[in-house]
Amino acid sequence: MSKKKTRYAVVGTGGRVGMFTHPIAGRFKDDAELVGLCDPSEVRRTYQQRQLSEEFGVPPIPTYADFDLMMREQKPDTVIVCTPDCYHHEYIVRSLDAGADVISEKPMTIDAEKCQAIFDAVKRTGRSVRTTFNVRWSPGATRVRELIAEGAIGRIMHVDYEYLLNTSHGADYFRRWHSHKEISGGLLLHKSTHHFDLINWWINGIPSRVFAMGDLVFYGKKNAEARGDGAFTRYERYTGEPEAAKDPFRLTLDEDPHLRNLYLDAEKETGYIRDQNVFRDGIDIEDSMSVMVKYRDGAVLTYSLNAYCPREGFRASISGDRGRIEYSEEHASHIITGDAKSAGDIGPTRKLILQKLFEAPQEIAIPSAEGGHGGGDPLLQEQMFSHSAPKDPFGRSAGHEQGAASLLIGAAANKSMSTGLPVNIDDLVKLNPSAKVLSDLI
Ligand SMILES: NC(=O)c1ccc[n+]([C@@H]2O[C@H](COP(=O)([O-])OP(=O)(O)OC[C@H]3O[C@@H](n4cnc5c(N)ncnc54)[C@H](O)[C@@H]3O)[C@@H](O)[C@H]2O)c1
Repeated sequence: MSKKKTRYAVVGTGGRVGMFTHPIAGRFKDDAELVGLCDPSEVRRTYQQRQLSEEFGVPPIPTYADFDLMMREQKPDTVIVCTPDCYHHEYIVRSLDAGADVISEKPMTIDAEKCQAIFDAVKRTGRSVRTTFNVRWSPGATRVRELIAEGAIGRIMHVDYEYLLNTSHGADYFRRWHSHKEISGGLLLHKSTHHFDLINWWINGIPSRVFAMGDLVFYGKKNAEARGDGAFTRYERYTGEPEAAKDPFRLTLDEDPHLRNLYLDAEKETGYIRDQNVFRDGIDIEDSMSVMVKYRDGAVLTYSLNAYCPREGFRASISGDRGRIEYSEEHASHIITGDAKSAGDIGPTRKLILQKLFEAPQEIAIPSAEGGHGGGDPLLQEQMFSHSAPKDPFGRSAGHEQGAASLLIGAAANKSMSTGLPVNIDDLVKLNPSAKVLSDLI
């Protein structure tokens, strides 16, 4: 007997939503169906509706500006939250209270208060919230977890993790809503939530204490003028600006049909300008950050993120009492326009080295896989949408507590940067006090 299809509704129909709507309408159409698309922008929601019909032949999915109306009329089983980060908690709580489960884009939310509201709603309703940490699913990241779990380097004492964002992908965060801390929480929430989660999951650790420093040192008008790049500051945005023709930081919305349909054509409705000058006044997030984290089991993380590097990728060194793992990735540039290669790109490459104490280093093979995020996206999509997804031996799905374990490092780091003091995670939101390792958390 065939099982009833799971009914999905989405809120936030911008650049990211296709990661969810396309597999539902395509690969998993026998198990899943889309019943509603909600967004304040009619242009964006009808563009997504049209694209789904054209690409996957589905009848027009009902669209809504009013979320509660969508919930009443469509009664979805699960709501997918894909709005700017500061609104995630609102839709998560309203969905749970309306009797639906939730799949939330990362970060689950951006501060302790909003996180607590989600915890309270989960407790009140008994429903589930899943955070989509897609990088856990990439084959290289999974191989690192596997090595650590089988004890290849013993008990983990220390992690050093450096992430480089380049002047294409990194700059993109400074063109729009991400550049306002009130909306994105800053990059230690918006971006680092991936990295903090990866480390929590790799070492199966629960963070307990955080200290951070950070500043805006490259983007913004003052920084450009101070280093003699005042010419890059003379326009508010890039599209339609002849003076910006040779500006290497420009992004133009009229040349790419996807960007035009999604953002340029919708500007009059919501006033959302996607291509603001990265060297303007008013940016209040950091572009250079250093964080230290202590874990419940005593392990320590040193972390850095810089958003103005000549190339993109990361380098992680994990030290245990039986050896060390070094894992690095170089990425091609990838902003919403696709994979435009930039001059600094040397990726994509991945290198995984295992060195046990008193032994020579050995390079560990990483299985190759097709699809976004090194092949992680299709695996995650299968887990989310297929009724017959294989059991995952690596524990790569994250519920609200594991979602919180990552975002609370960023929230604590923000507090630490503003006070100059270390912050205890438990003083923000209490993660299960009897849990010893991350896998003890939902
Ligand atoms: N996992 C990943 O790799 C990844 C990559 C990109 C984005 N994301 C996440 O996806 C989410 C969306 O990002 P995006 O790049 O699609 O942004 P976007 O700006 O392209 O789209 C956001 C959409 O939300 C809508 N919106 C704005 N305010 C709203 C409100 N109050 N209620 C409902 N809808 C509202 C906008 O109209 C827009 O259509 C973010 O949470 C982001 O962190 C995750």
